[in-house]
Amino acid sequence: MIEIKDIVKIYRTGSETLTALDHVTLTIQEGEFTSIMGPSGSGKSTLMNILGLLDSFDSGKYFLNGKDVSDLTDDERAAIRNKEIGFVFQSFNLMPRMNVLENVQLPLVYAKVPMKERKRRAEEALKRVGLENRMYHKTNEISGGQKQRVAIARAIVNNPSVLMADEPTGNLDSKTTLDILRIFQQLNEEGTTIVMVTHESEMSAYTKRIISFRDGILQSDELQEPKVLPKGGV
Ligand SMILES: Nc1ncnc2c1ncn2[C@@H]1O[C@H](COP(=O)(O)OP(=O)(O)O)[C@@H](O)[C@H]1O
Ligand SMILES: [Mg+2]
Repeated sequence: MIEIKDIVKIYRTGSETLTALDHVTLTIQEGEFTSIMGPSGSGKSTLMNILGLLDSFDSGKYFLNGKDVSDLTDDERAAIRNKEIGFVFQSFNLMPRMNVLENVQLPLVYAKVPMKERKRRAEEALKRVGLENRMYHKTNEISGGQKQRVAIARAIVNNPSVLMADEPTGNLDSKTTLDILRIFQQLNEEGTTIVMVTHESEMSAYTKRIISFRDGILQSDELQEPKVLPKGGV
């Protein structure tokens, strides 16, 4: 599904250059639940932004679902991104004046899905994250964990090929973190491909594969038996 070959990303600021990704090659298949690990500054977010078609790169190749997406314009990237990628960020990025249901419907508004269908699909996504009883709350009236569940519902409402999460529990306490991991494990069991950036081994223990970075270089790539959280009760 995701195939990158020899990706190099260089940041240039003034006369300084920084190689954030140094000839990275990897493949991610449908149905995987992978964590991207590494210390701060190792290139995790840079990789996520490239995989998620938020950013371009200097050299190498990227194939998404068999299509070469290496050399697209910003508009072309955005069009594919809206269809294929669901994002979850540490800072939730919700619209504070909209209610939960409206936030989740937003990607479907951009995709020009008819109103009735939008509502039905947003409700279904909210059920999958256990928030069907919070649909008409404003997003400033719910807890951090609930906000992140709204963001997850918004990320999956369009049925993307892959769900990408960059330090999704960085702002959450440890119990709420486990709630989010439980949702990810459930979604993955139902078929959603997930790539999660984290710098914490307590989090990556719950994923099926761990890819580690240091100084922009892929250090290791290992499959593991993930720790499993009991279902339900989110
Ligand atoms: N927009 C940018 N401009 C210049 N340097 C950047 C930019 N974004 C990231 N970097 C640098 O690239 C390296 C990798 O950053 P990043 O991908 O954010 O790492 P991580 O997510 O693992 O903490 C770091 O040294 C960081 O300072
Ligand atoms: Mg980062």
